Amino acid sequence: MSALHKSVQDRTHPGSTEDLTLKLSMARGVDEILATVREYARPLVGADGITFVLRDGDRCHYAEEDAISPLWKGQRFPLETCISGWSMLNRQAVVIEDIYADPRIPHAAYRPTFVKSLAMVPVRAEDPVAAIGAYWATRRLPSDAELSMLQRIANIAAVAMTNVALVSSLVEARDEAVRAREAIILAMASLAETRDNETGNHVRRTQHYVRALAEELFRRAMFRPELDEELIDLLYKSAPLHDIGKVGIPDRIMLKPGKLDADEFAVMKTHAELGWAAISKAERNLGTCGSFFRVAKEIAWTHHERWDGSGYPRGLRGRQIPLPGRLMAIADVYDALVSKRVYKPAIPHADAVGIIIGERGRHFDPDLVDVFVDVAPTFDIIFQGMSDQPDSNLN
Ligand code: C2E
Ligand code: SIN
Ligand code: SIN
Ligand code: SIN
Ligand code: FE
Ligand code: FE
Repeated sequence: MSALHKSVQDRTHPGSTEDLTLKLSMARGVDEILATVREYARPLVGADGITFVLRDGDRCHYAEEDAISPLWKGQRFPLETCISGWSMLNRQAVVIEDIYADPRIPHAAYRPTFVKSLAMVPVRAEDPVAAIGAYWATRRLPSDAELSMLQRIANIAAVAMTNVALVSSLVEARDEAVRAREAIILAMASLAETRDNETGNHVRRTQHYVRALAEELFRRAMFRPELDEELIDLLYKSAPLHDIGKVGIPDRIMLKPGKLDADEFAVMKTHAELGWAAISKAERNLGTCGSFFRVAKEIAWTHHERWDGSGYPRGLRGRQIPLPGRLMAIADVYDALVSKRVYKPAIPHADAVGIIIGERGRHFDPDLVDVFVDVAPTFDIIFQGMSDQPDSNLN
């Protein structure tokens, strides 16, 4: 390092390149990379101005700068019209002693600025994603030390930009996987719901009932610690699958307009275990075993159990029935009652509430029925808002 360069550094009290390297290596976003370069680069290079230019499709985005007077911060120019674009397109550094003598420079853009000389280096030369510019107010050819410092900063920034891109593509891939899973679940659920009614809003309504009931329990600090906000979210997401097993029930039973005989009902009852098996299979095929699947399986398997032990498929009793199944039972029956089915007409909200109260401690968990009574107006609002009319639109 030249004596002159050293004295420039001392005058401006720069942070060290080690600080710069450390900060850049820990940057979690492009914003942090930009801020770090703005903070450190100008005194390290010994320039009157520094810009950090991001490649934005076919344009250069002058994203950040640190200069003795304003340059082009925030502006975007076509790659072909600016020197940073030239540097990225040609994958090489460029040094210009007299900018007004160089045809690659858009003179009009420089006239309002202090710039007389510049150096521009691409960030990630093999596939440029950005460029860093250094500018001087007096006409001069930058020294080797200045240029190699600028190149070094660009190299460190290149690693940081690549890291940030990798991390964000991992996050995107994970978000994408979550969205794909939710889309698959809803697709499976809509397959199941067409078995229950034409428009299939039953399964979507049940997820809202279950959440409304669970949120009220949570507000009253009931069923802690089992019932937390995470479980409420899982209940909401997995409720649409409660009747997925109905896909395996023959139409002659499923769609029978009248009452099922004992044999037919025996077949119908298998939908609970079929649902459990279908979700287990999806879980195995996806190679995951998150809490989502645990709750979804519990709901499918236990939503027809009854508090007094007279339900199916296993005849579980009281708190042997998992809480998600006990919650789903109320949501499911409420919606079945107020909806028209091939085998029965709809009944009014108040009558449905009356039937559920009548089953307190028989079909349903008595504590849940007590809370249901208070939340019932919300159930009615959900039903009205997501009715089976084609143009209903809550959610
Ligand atoms: P679903 O129609 O969704 O009904 C879910 C649950 O709501 C029923 O479970 C039952 O507990 C309750 N529920 C439905 N309608 C009434 C009612 O009019 N009065 C009372 N007190 N409760 C009612 P369940 O009985 O285990 O039935 C499970 C599924 O089997 C039903 O789902 C439906 O798809 C089918 N199903 C039940 N009975 C018949 C029937 O007579 N004919 C036909 N075609 N399907 C039936
Ligand atoms: C530059 O050329 O470096 C920025 C200004 C412009 O492109 O107009
Ligand atoms: C509520 O959660 O209270 C509103 C109903 C719902 O969309 O879950
Ligand atoms: C299950 O384990 O997934 C079903 C519900 C239960 O038995 O608790
Ligand atoms: Fe069911
Ligand atoms: Fe159901």
